[in-house]
Amino acid sequence: MPEKMTAPRFRQSKAEGRRLVCLTAYDVASAEMADNAGVDMVLVGDSLGNVVLGHRTTLPVTMADIVHHLGAVRRGVRKALLVADLPFGSYQVSTEAGVRNAVTLMQAGADAVKLEGDYPEVVAQLVRAGIPTMGHVGMTPQSVHQFGGFRVQGRDEAAESVLAVATALEQAGAFGVVLELIPATLAQKLTELLSIPTIGIGAGPHCDGQIQVWHDVLGLGGKVHRHAKAYLEGRALMEQALREYSDEVRDAHFPTEDHSF
Ligand code: KIV
Repeated sequence: MPEKMTAPRFRQSKAEGRRLVCLTAYDVASAEMADNAGVDMVLVGDSLGNVVLGHRTTLPVTMADIVHHLGAVRRGVRKALLVADLPFGSYQVSTEAGVRNAVTLMQAGADAVKLEGDYPEVVAQLVRAGIPTMGHVGMTPQSVHQFGGFRVQGRDEAAESVLAVATALEQAGAFGVVLELIPATLAQKLTELLSIPTIGIGAGPHCDGQIQVWHDVLGLGGKVHRHAKAYLEGRALMEQALREYSDEVRDAHFPTEDHSF
């Protein structure tokens, strides 16, 4: 990636036919690795509630959690577009709260923010305030209790409401939209309909780009979800390394004179 990715460049990528690579990160080391690998967009996602903090849902994630991890990621990202999630409760209560919290994320180092669901009025106000904003439709995890679980959204007649929300977000000025866990045919239709990039996760192969969770891509989670692909058996490799470390300490093979002063 030659130069710093910006929200306008990200948006322009669709017209240029350049597919977009997006990945979550939660600390400085993962941020540096994603940036070095040439990822276009790094997201400090509220998925940190699941994969870093061990919660079952993203609902417990607070602004303070996002700001804390955003600071670390900011120190590791140079070229990728750095997007921060507005967590549950930070924009649903009012547009004013959404703007205030988005300002906090921008001041903490984000290049842009992302919010879930049918909030075009918040997106419009954020864009007016100069804050590039990304939408997120389909299986929006902050609404998991409304959906009755983590399941595919937008099947059959429910497709119309996903289409309507995504269109409203584009009209409100969103520079891109995440499509999560929706049928591939619906994602293809949205990708053809919208002029902003569609970024899929569990939305089939026809989106303008893809976003995945760090732990899933590197095989660090306990299981591989159908929407994900592990490019490394990270968890098994790390556990093996930790067993070797434990054995060497117990057998007095580490540290040696080489590690001494
Ligand atoms: O929080 C997150 O990681 C996300 C992506 C899965 C899109 O919102």
